[in-house]
Amino acid sequence: MIFFDDVWFEYEPNQPVLRNLSLQIQPGETVALMGENGAGKTTLAKHINGLLKPTRGTVYLEGVDTRKTSTAQLARKVGFVFQNADHQLFADTLQAEIGFGLRNLNFSKEEIDERVNRFLTLFELTKYQDQSPFLLSGGERKRLALASVLCVEPQVLILDEPTQAQDALQKQKLLDFIASFRKSNHILLLVTHDVEFAVKAVDRIVVLSQGELIADGTPRQILSNLSILERARLLPPQLTQFAHQLAEHEPRFPTDLLTLTEAVKAVNQILRRSR
Ligand SMILES: Nc1ncnc2c1ncn2[C@@H]1O[C@H](COP(=O)(O)OP(=O)(O)O)[C@@H](O)[C@H]1O
Ligand SMILES: [Mg+2]
Repeated sequence: MIFFDDVWFEYEPNQPVLRNLSLQIQPGETVALMGENGAGKTTLAKHINGLLKPTRGTVYLEGVDTRKTSTAQLARKVGFVFQNADHQLFADTLQAEIGFGLRNLNFSKEEIDERVNRFLTLFELTKYQDQSPFLLSGGERKRLALASVLCVEPQVLILDEPTQAQDALQKQKLLDFIASFRKSNHILLLVTHDVEFAVKAVDRIVVLSQGELIADGTPRQILSNLSILERARLLPPQLTQFAHQLAEHEPRFPTDLLTLTEAVKAVNQILRRSR
């Protein structure tokens, strides 16, 4: 479990970036952390793997205060894919990059080879396997960073803006991976602006605005609440916009739609009634 107990954090004295923040995430939960640029999302995420320690309050990972454990210990449990992949790539080849964490955790050679190949394929990187990570494009480097963290199947997985610079097919592959991860008892924290992606990826959305937690609920609750979205400067999903506009003319039309199937069903009901 991840537990933030009344956490405050300041980079500069008297300029709190996280305020009065309490949050619990249970094993098996997939959570999106959303909010405007500068809201404090990355700062919050860095408290989970101990890169940052609270100025006030306490962060616990599996009951242990992150101040009382080493960053190396936390790194074994928490996989973190940074917003900027360049900060975490360092090996000479893609193969070595993906294999690094597995070797560190003493996986067998067969297991390492199998996982490296599986993740190279999943993220469409096989043809570059012997190249330097620094010859890749931005989007490819992002996928390599994902592959090298995902392949060790950490208990807690934090993805900071993973869909940046990815096309629809690559987003779908990431969703497929997340779907399989969701069946496990692990925790996924997805930091994202991408509401369409969040709807498909998680069970719960936590909204941060100016360092404060302003909402916590299911994707349906959060994404149909236009005032919360506006406060956090998030663009509502197109379906939500569509539903709200239709509801202005047809008050019975539901405004908390999440999928195209639900929208089609709702439109059909209205059409049938008006015949
Ligand atoms: N290393 C740092 N030193 C000082 N201020 C920082 C640092 N990193 C982030 N900040 C500030 O903290 C606030 C929250 O940043 P961040 O957590 O990166 O937000 P988000 O990920 O939601 O965009 C911003 O105002 C940002 O400018
Ligand atoms: Mg950020």
